[in-house]
Amino acid sequence: MPFTPGQALVVYGITGDLARKKLIPALYRLARRGLLNVPVVGVSRAEDTLGKFQAQVRDSIAAAYETRDEQASQALAEQITLVNGDMEEQDLYRRIGRQLGPDVFAVHYLAVPPALFEQIAHGLASAGLAGRGRLVVEKPFGRDHASASRLNRELLQYFPEGRLRRVDHFLGKDAVQDIMAFRFANSLLEPVWNRSHVASVQITMAEAFGVQGRGSFYDAVGTVRDVLQNHLLQVLAYLTMEPPAQASAEAQRAEKPRVLRCVRTLSPHDAVLGQYRGYLGTPGVAADSVTETYVAVRLWIDNWRWADVPFAIRAGKSLAATATEIAVEFHRPPRMLFLSPTAGRPEANIVRFRLQPDPAVLFDLQAKSRGQTDTTSPVRVSVDLAEALGPMEAPYERILADALSGEVRTFARQDTVEEAWRIVDPVLQTPLGPHPYTPGSWGPAAADGLTREGHWLPLSTDPR
Ligand code: BG6
Repeated sequence: MPFTPGQALVVYGITGDLARKKLIPALYRLARRGLLNVPVVGVSRAEDTLGKFQAQVRDSIAAAYETRDEQASQALAEQITLVNGDMEEQDLYRRIGRQLGPDVFAVHYLAVPPALFEQIAHGLASAGLAGRGRLVVEKPFGRDHASASRLNRELLQYFPEGRLRRVDHFLGKDAVQDIMAFRFANSLLEPVWNRSHVASVQITMAEAFGVQGRGSFYDAVGTVRDVLQNHLLQVLAYLTMEPPAQASAEAQRAEKPRVLRCVRTLSPHDAVLGQYRGYLGTPGVAADSVTETYVAVRLWIDNWRWADVPFAIRAGKSLAATATEIAVEFHRPPRMLFLSPTAGRPEANIVRFRLQPDPAVLFDLQAKSRGQTDTTSPVRVSVDLAEALGPMEAPYERILADALSGEVRTFARQDTVEEAWRIVDPVLQTPLGPHPYTPGSWGPAAADGLTREGHWLPLSTDPR
């Protein structure tokens, strides 16, 4: 039976990895919060029976939440109507159209490999659904600058920019949005947030696990495309952009490409790629693969605020810890008071944003050491954001809610995406193979040379 007029959500790839691990648990939470008052259509190539599919939905929820309401899990499973079919066949879109009914505005969420994006957009247009729908596509958006602008042109033929959303789930993280809030809602920070006071910035996204279960996806992508071009350059933009000139969502979005345009295009000398030992034995990975599982880069932002401040960013799989953290290091104070021969110069202050685990803001400060001495000792002021403000929403809850409501702030704009590709493109073309590194280590030692300090700063989660 077609749905009554209104809105609907259509998820393509409803039985795929992303839907099982992230989207279905997020839909469950939205439904529990009373925010999923629309019919949901799940599109899948798998010819599953309704019973098997509903069991999968319940399993996804069970895998994500230790405590859950079984009735609510079943209610969500029943709220999703399944449409099976091949996404390359035109008939599928006619069937989706019949399912939706004549007047429904649908949000089409593409949790499928990027190779299918254009095909689906075209199928929706041919079935007369593009004019009354919003298209939401997962990352990575393109494989490099040229393919991202080509893909954009193709999608724009069917869905204008106002009805196109590019997902970067980091934008749905409270901890990422908090970078901007923290900067601009605290007048304490803004006067020192520039080259006169900041000596260097380091950003780490370390994951202690490998690519198990995602070998064939990952091998075709690598760390630069998987997290640097999107998640980490978005984080960099929030950290370095100017305050938005107006209160609108578009004014806020406009500041990110403005600062990224000032980021120097990377040269292969500013990058170190790595591959963990044992990666080649992963199912789905080519036996002679040179795909990187680690990347470190040194970036420069040629604008008035950031000129000459080195930004070092690293990300990798199978590293020593799972932690994502930004460390903004300030210039060290002059010796002045600390004149005795035994007193070293005080260490630099560091402002840290920990995005995970346990999102927090931390200040590394100096205080007088105890006793008859004029030396100082490091002390840390830290705010655990979940403790202070309550638990954070899962990023995909925010992304799905915003996809339905039409909000744009949590989605990437094309100019930002293209600037990010422009910055990393030369690293993707580097002929150098990745450096091998031992799983459980901090990656190739050669990456130390990309930091101003000659080493990566310890993370707030490291034992002190
Ligand atoms: C995804 C990447 O976009 O982000 C994964 O494809 C990565 O490789 C993941 O593990 C990290 O996201 P989160 O939210 O788990 O930190």
